[in-house]
Amino acid sequence: MTATLNRAIASFPNVFDPGALSALPDHLQETIRRRNEVLGPGYMLMYREPVEFVSGRGAHLYDHEGNDFLDVYNNVPCVGHAHPRVVEAVSRQLAAVNTNTRYVQEALVDYAERLLATFPAELSKLSLACSGSEANDLAMRVAKFHTGGEGIIVTRWAYHGITSEVSRFSPSLGKGSPLGPYVRLIDPPDPRLAAPGSTLAEHMRAQVRGAIDDLERHGYRLAALITDCAYSSDGIFTDPVDYMQGVVEEVRAAGGVYIADEVQSGFARLGDSMWGFTRHGVVPDIVTMGKPMGNGVPVSGVVFRPEVSEEFGRNVRYFNTFAGSSIPVAAAAAVLDVLEEENVQQRVLENGALLRAGIEELTRESPYVAEVRGRGLYVGVEIVKDRETLAPDRGRAEDVISDMRDRRVLISASGPVANVLKIRPPLAFDSADVTRFLETFAEVAKERL
Ligand SMILES: Cc1ncc(COP(=O)(O)O)c(C=O)c1O
Repeated sequence: MTATLNRAIASFPNVFDPGALSALPDHLQETIRRRNEVLGPGYMLMYREPVEFVSGRGAHLYDHEGNDFLDVYNNVPCVGHAHPRVVEAVSRQLAAVNTNTRYVQEALVDYAERLLATFPAELSKLSLACSGSEANDLAMRVAKFHTGGEGIIVTRWAYHGITSEVSRFSPSLGKGSPLGPYVRLIDPPDPRLAAPGSTLAEHMRAQVRGAIDDLERHGYRLAALITDCAYSSDGIFTDPVDYMQGVVEEVRAAGGVYIADEVQSGFARLGDSMWGFTRHGVVPDIVTMGKPMGNGVPVSGVVFRPEVSEEFGRNVRYFNTFAGSSIPVAAAAAVLDVLEEENVQQRVLENGALLRAGIEELTRESPYVAEVRGRGLYVGVEIVKDRETLAPDRGRAEDVISDMRDRRVLISASGPVANVLKIRPPLAFDSADVTRFLETFAEVAKERL
């Protein structure tokens, strides 16, 4: 990376500026310099002062000196950093054997049965992949094959992944990563964007209808609407949930399918459900999932209605070497074990409610906080210049993030202007962690908000 931020990276929130390298402690400077020499393009570090961790437990990360950082940002280690149950399952499998899906693997069948039991009966087929991007890539391939269409509708600042196909419907990647000509953008479900006198449900439905019309006018039949059920990169919009049924009706009437991207919202993140889509009272045609699925071991999945995936399966060969092999399946099964044994969903519901209530309390009077949004352990705090114009204040959001990091509490930001604090701890976050977070946030808010 050059001495100053390049344009694509500058648009990303909470990024370390390489121009500030010489201000860092010696060891950190040296490692970052070596890193810049050898890593390929696009890598970036978080925080004004980056940090290196050597171990973790629950929602805590520890640096070389043994300093305890509260992790309020990572959704991958969902049941907690280095959860002993996952460590044991993966170690045992690693020491035994790792085979792929071209051999009979009873553990894979057991896992598929268990995972599918958490879905409505209509969603009954599972394919495995290695990342959220791969899952969305496969989902869209199947959607196009099934519908014969090409058109895709996504929210205005969505992120769905990095493959060359998925990047074409991930507008948050910015100008350097062009969208496909068959992609149309709609607003995220922000009730403030509905015209006066119009409901959010009407606004969302009209936008989808308009996008379909525009696609057809340009010769594209609709293949799919894909939404992140937490609208994470759009700025976190979990509620209300009463607009999706009408939207999905429009999509199906045009011959398209609805893909629910659960990479962020899945595995009980939102507390009141295992999957984000169930909160909306719809049954998608395809559901994708990833990040928390293996607690850090790369594994992702796509769940289909069989009538959507059958033809594809008959006509297209899909073999993904590592996907569904014994080690990631052992990790994924251990995650399900912990979710059940520790009653994680209930914990998320309770601690999430405490966390959000505490943040609301601390920011109620602030002229710089427009909204506190979210559900479960996914909270967004929208930072603005003032409550009248709602002009986003990225600088203030970054100051808050940086002050929290200096006090060893890790959060970051999201949204088109990166002015929404993104507070998203591992689901291992317990009530003592909530207290520590709120105490630290109170100190920072006193100065900055
Ligand atoms: C909603 C959503 N979908 C897909 C992806 C891509 O997942 P991965 O980074 O595992 O490819 C992400 C990653 O942040 C995501 O947030």
